[in-house]
Amino acid sequence: MAIISASILAADLTNLKGEVERVEPYIDEIHLDVMDGHFVPNLTFGYPMLQALRSFTQMPIDAHLMVTNPDRHIEEFVKEGATRVTIHQEICYHLHRSVERIRALGAEAFVALNPATPLSTLDEIFPYVDGILIMTVNPGFSGQKFIASMKDKIAKLSKIRLENGYSFKIAVDGGVGNDNAPSLAQAGVDVLVMGFGVFRNPNLSQLSDRLRKLCR
Ligand code: DX5
Ligand code: ZN
Repeated sequence: MAIISASILAADLTNLKGEVERVEPYIDEIHLDVMDGHFVPNLTFGYPMLQALRSFTQMPIDAHLMVTNPDRHIEEFVKEGATRVTIHQEICYHLHRSVERIRALGAEAFVALNPATPLSTLDEIFPYVDGILIMTVNPGFSGQKFIASMKDKIAKLSKIRLENGYSFKIAVDGGVGNDNAPSLAQAGVDVLVMGFGVFRNPNLSQLSDRLRKLCR
């Protein structure tokens, strides 16, 4: 069953509450892209944005930490209401410790991989995570094009999960929309993170219907 996680980076931020209310019937959770201008070339949201979201929605919220020192922020994001924390393999020195910490705080722990980072870097962490997020663009911005070769990476990950009996979820983030979301869901993806695909999509209700039907 593939769910839609709406990245508010692509929302009209002058009307955040209205934007979330507009798409709420069609989505399953909210995705908060936290960028520090070091690990990725853009600066975005911190705790105040999570607090703002929590003041009007009860939806699950994923804090996607694209920052050079994720450990410093894990606890605060969970305290402020993130139900999942996604940390990057590339910037976490003690991935197992960080994953355990997130789970001990009561949130789901996902590990993200940039497009050029091989799946083999996760061999030792697979048994411990709640999910793996495959970046299908280089992180930093909404509205980029899906990197086609990431389909093979997703298929490979799905095979690893099946062959080893792992229970982690598979998430994808970047360039996902009407054209590729259904096929990704069929390829075993559980969480479709979408920015433009949600907030700038005139056919969002049809896409949401289609994905929900695929799950039955
Ligand atoms: C990219 C972010 C994504 C981004 C997705 O670095 O992690 O979550 O907002 O936006 P779209 O779906 O428009 O590519
Ligand atoms: Zn993201």
